Amino acid sequence: MNMNDIIYKKREGQTLTKDEIEYFVSGYTEGTIPDYQASALLMAIFLKGMSREETYDLTRAMKYSGDIVDLSEIKGVKVDKHSTGGVGDKTTLIVGPLAAACGVPIAKMSGRGLGFTGGTVDKMEAIPGFRTTVEAGDFINLVNSVGLSVIGQTAHIAPADKKLYALRDVTATVDNLSLITSSIMSKKLASGSDAIVLDVKCGNGAFMERYEDACELGSLMVDIGKADGKRTIAVVTDMSQPLGLAVGNSLEVIEAIETLKGNGPEDITELSLGLASYMIYLGEKAASPEEGYLAAKEALASGRALKKLEEFIAGQGGNPGVTSDYTLFPQSTCKSEVLAEADGFVGSIEAKSIGLASQHSGAGRETKEDTIDLSAGILLAKKVGAAVKKGELLATVFGTDQGRVDKGALEAAKAFHIQPAAPEKGILIKRI
Ligand code: URA
Repeated sequence: MNMNDIIYKKREGQTLTKDEIEYFVSGYTEGTIPDYQASALLMAIFLKGMSREETYDLTRAMKYSGDIVDLSEIKGVKVDKHSTGGVGDKTTLIVGPLAAACGVPIAKMSGRGLGFTGGTVDKMEAIPGFRTTVEAGDFINLVNSVGLSVIGQTAHIAPADKKLYALRDVTATVDNLSLITSSIMSKKLASGSDAIVLDVKCGNGAFMERYEDACELGSLMVDIGKADGKRTIAVVTDMSQPLGLAVGNSLEVIEAIETLKGNGPEDITELSLGLASYMIYLGEKAASPEEGYLAAKEALASGRALKKLEEFIAGQGGNPGVTSDYTLFPQSTCKSEVLAEADGFVGSIEAKSIGLASQHSGAGRETKEDTIDLSAGILLAKKVGAAVKKGELLATVFGTDQGRVDKGALEAAKAFHIQPAAPEKGILIKRI
């Protein structure tokens, strides 16, 4: 077997065998297949596509390229949750405590921000003292005692994805159904949970902009999860405007806390309750998603989920006092306001521009080596559908470097489209 023949076969639109896919994945992970051949194959896959069978074989080969986490010492049905990536998506910090407060053990590995989308690990590092790296034994003990632990993905989980993702990022081969599916599902299937809830983002702030593509991605990931013996549900949700009002690390953690206090924006609250309801159902703590929803609502209203968040923070070395004293978070020193240029209604807010604006302000990395300004980001004052007057505040950009904050504000201004009439109300949860 050799790489040239495999690239040729895919270039001609033929189907690769399981052995050929395994040969590629193991060779690339071990470094015997060079970047230029892997890039050529990725582009051939991007252009010619892969069948469901090939995507499944690719996912499994990537899953077994590294360690498989053993969570068998954790009692109960372990449920994982994954978002395909969005702007202002802080739901893990809300649904984790909601589901854990209802008795579902959550042992989750999360990633850092990617391009203009944020990552849970970066957000959690905004909490003073919080550790995102925990020894394997401590991770299990935390889930058994607190019910919830979220740590950074280790380099030993699906190392093939780590290398392939970095290559896709620089060869214009990210937004392909089979490549996204294998990337996400290889990590999820190696992470040891029994069930998975997938939040598939759809819209201009997501990798899948079209609804049909997001549905196809969801269905492919569900099939692969099930074929690997995991109960899997995908929820296609809107990412045509940022989720909630806050984008940026400290700002998003504060919004997650406010949501657990019952003061969250409507979209974040509804999406979190929706995702938590499926996690509680898959975790066998409710007989149906509807029952799961009621349980999640009760955990929110009673304050049990907020208490679970505090236990989770303390368990990983963070200061749980952040839930009542927001001055404990890294503080911004500069700000810049974005004002409406006309009377009317907010017709759309391009999530991608807000994500880029947040990145410019210092909240995200522009290169892998960049350090993040944990205080930086954006607070929206208006969401889609709001009436505005000329000169009224649309958003405020925060950070510690005025130049970066001003650059962020210029980008954020491009995101808002004001129109004379109120737009139709969009649907947040589009499909299960
Ligand atoms: N998230 C991932 O982990 N991989 C992708 O390919 C896209 C989103």
